[in-house]
Amino acid sequence: MIGGSGGPLFGGGGGRGAWGTPGLERAVVDGRAFDTRVMARLWGYLRPFRRQLWWTVVLVVINAAMQLIGPYLLKVAIDDHIIARTDFPGLSVVSLLFAGTLLVTFLTQSRQSYTMAYVAQHVLTKMRGELFAKLNRLPLAYHDRHESGVTMSRIVNDVAVFQELLTQGAVNVIADLLILTGIITIMVLMSPLLALYTLSVLPVMALATVFFTSRARQAFLRTRETIGEVAAGFQENVSGVRVVQAFTREQVSQRRFDAINLGNRRANLGAVLLASAFPPIVEFMGMLATAIVLWFGAEAAQSGAVTVGVVVAFLTYVTRFFQPIRELAQVYSLFQQTMAAGEKIFELLDTPLTVDDRPGARELPPIAGEVEFRNVAFHYRKGVPVLEDISFTASPGQTIALVGPTGAGKTSIASLLARFYDISGGEILIDGTDIREVTMASLRGQMGLVPQDPFLFSGTIGDNIRFGRPGASDEAVVEAARLANAHEFIARLPKGYDTVVNERGQNYSQGQRQLVALARAVLAGPRILILDEATASVDTRTEALIQAALARVLAGRTSFVIAHRLSTIRNASQVLVVSGGRIVQRGTHNELLGQQGMYRELYLMQFRHQDPTASRGPGALAPAG
Ligand SMILES: Nc1ncnc2c1ncn2[C@@H]1O[C@H](COP(=O)(O)OP(=O)(O)O)[C@@H](O)[C@H]1O
Ligand SMILES: [Mg+2]
Repeated sequence: MIGGSGGPLFGGGGGRGAWGTPGLERAVVDGRAFDTRVMARLWGYLRPFRRQLWWTVVLVVINAAMQLIGPYLLKVAIDDHIIARTDFPGLSVVSLLFAGTLLVTFLTQSRQSYTMAYVAQHVLTKMRGELFAKLNRLPLAYHDRHESGVTMSRIVNDVAVFQELLTQGAVNVIADLLILTGIITIMVLMSPLLALYTLSVLPVMALATVFFTSRARQAFLRTRETIGEVAAGFQENVSGVRVVQAFTREQVSQRRFDAINLGNRRANLGAVLLASAFPPIVEFMGMLATAIVLWFGAEAAQSGAVTVGVVVAFLTYVTRFFQPIRELAQVYSLFQQTMAAGEKIFELLDTPLTVDDRPGARELPPIAGEVEFRNVAFHYRKGVPVLEDISFTASPGQTIALVGPTGAGKTSIASLLARFYDISGGEILIDGTDIREVTMASLRGQMGLVPQDPFLFSGTIGDNIRFGRPGASDEAVVEAARLANAHEFIARLPKGYDTVVNERGQNYSQGQRQLVALARAVLAGPRILILDEATASVDTRTEALIQAALARVLAGRTSFVIAHRLSTIRNASQVLVVSGGRIVQRGTHNELLGQQGMYRELYLMQFRHQDPTASRGPGALAPAG
C-alpha cells in the first residue's frame, strides 16, 4: 500500500477503512464549529506573512469603503444635482467619483486576491513539507496501523482546505462585517424609520442562516468521511489490481466500490440540497427588503420625510447588504471544514515518535560489528508476543543464518536490529552499546538491509543503486552491481544503468529487483548486512554466484541472512533456528544436522533436494569435516 495518491479529485480527508479493514485505526471527522487550539496553530503558519496580511486588510478596508460610498454618491447625485436643480457640471463630478469607486474596487479586489493566494500557496507548501517530513520519521508501527490512502488524503486534501479558506474567505469576513455595519449605520443616519422597516427582514434572515449552516455542517462532515473512503478504496484497488484481475474479482470489488461511491454521491447531494436552498432564500429576503424600501420609501418620499435620493440609495444598499451575508455563511462553512481538516493535520503532526532518538543520544562510532541480543522480547500489539527470550551473539565478520517456518519471527528479528521497532524487553547491543542509546542515523548508516520485497523508486537503475550513497561514482555503482551479480542483466537493458524504473519497479522481475537492492546495500558499504530472503526469487545458479561474490564483500562484515537456500546456510558461522518466536536450536549446519530436531526435519523436507551431497545417501547427514 505504498505510493499512489488520492489526488486533488478527492475533496475530503477524514476517511476510514474503505473495505472496513479490521485493526486499522479509523479517522472519523468530528469537527467543532470553532476550536481555538486548532485556530491558534493555523495562525502560527500565517505569522510570517503578517506584512502581506496587513496589506490585505488595508485593501479590504478601502474596498469596503468604496462599496459604502457608491450608493451614497447616487443619493447626492439625485438629491443635489438632479432634483434640486439640474446641474450637469456637478453631476459629472459625482459620476466621475462613482466611476472612481468602481475602479478602486476592481484594483483592490484583484490585488487582495493575489496577495491572499500568495500567502495561501506558501502556507500550503510549508504544511505539506512538514507532513512529508513527519511521515518519513514516523516509526513503522504507525504505518502498520494506518491506511496509506487516508494518509495521502491528509497531505493532499486536508491541507488544501486551509488554503481554500485563506484564498476564498478569511479576509472577506472583515470586508463583509465592515460592509454590513457600514450599511446599517448609513441607513440609520439617513433615515432611521426606513432603516427600521428595511432591516425588519434581518431576524428571519438570521434564523434561516443558523438553520442552514448547522444542517450544512453535518452534511459536509459526511461528505468528508465518504470522500476519504472513496480515496482509500481507489488506492487499495490500484495497488492490488494484479490480484483483483488474477482472481477475476473485478465485479466484486466494483460492487464494493460502487457502494462507497454511491454513499459519497448521496452525501454530496445532501449537502448540495441544503447549500442550494440557502442562496435563493437570501435572494428572496433581498427582494422582500427591496419591496419594503419601495413601498415605505415611496410613501415617505411623498410625505417629504425622506428625499428620493435616499430611497434610491436604500435600494442600492439593500442589494449590497445580502451579498456579505451569503458570503459570511459560506466562510462559516469553510471555517468548519478547516477546523476538521486542521484537527486531522495536527493529529498527524503531533503523533508521538514512539521510536526516536533519545534526548542526548550520541553518535555510534564506526563499529567492528559485534551484535548481541540479550533476552529480547517483542510484540507488535500488546498481549500478542512475537519474540520471546531471544539471545545470541554474532562476532564481527560472522554470518548468522536465521531459518524457521513462515511467521516464526525472522523478519521481526531483522527489523529490531535496524531499530524499526523498539523491543519490549531485554537489550540489543552493537559493539557493547545499547542501540537505543545512539542516534538512529548513526546506527542505520552502518547497516545495509535488503528487505523481503525490495522497493525500487522511480528514477534510473543507477539512481536506485546509489540510493544509500548519492555521491558514488559510476565506477563504484558498476562495481557494486558486479558484486551483487546485477551487472549482467543491467548491461543488457536498453539504456543500461540509465534505464528508467517505473513506480515501485513494476517493470522488473522480483529477482531483478532483489539484485538491484543487493547492489544498493553493497554500495552503501555497511558493517552489518541483513539479507531477508534477499535471494529467494533468483535462480539457483545466480544465487550461487551471489553467494560467491558476497563471501568477498562480507569479509569482515557481520551479516544476517534469512534464507531458504541450503548453500547460504551451510556456510554460515551460526545457524539460529527460530520457531514460534523463540530460538529452538543453534549451531553450525553440520552440528544441527547431527541432532534430532527441527533443523533436521527442515533439512529432510526442504533442503535435501538442494543438497548436491545428499544423493550420497544417509552418510551425508552425518557431520562432515
Ligand atoms: N507489522 C506487523 N504488525 C503486526 N504483526 C506482525 C507484523 N509483522 C509481522 N507480524 C507477525 O509477527 C509474526 C512474525 O512475523 P515475521 O517476523 O514476519 O515472520 P517470518 O519473517 O519468520 O516469516 C507473525 O505472526 C506475523 O503475523
Ligand atoms: Mg519474513
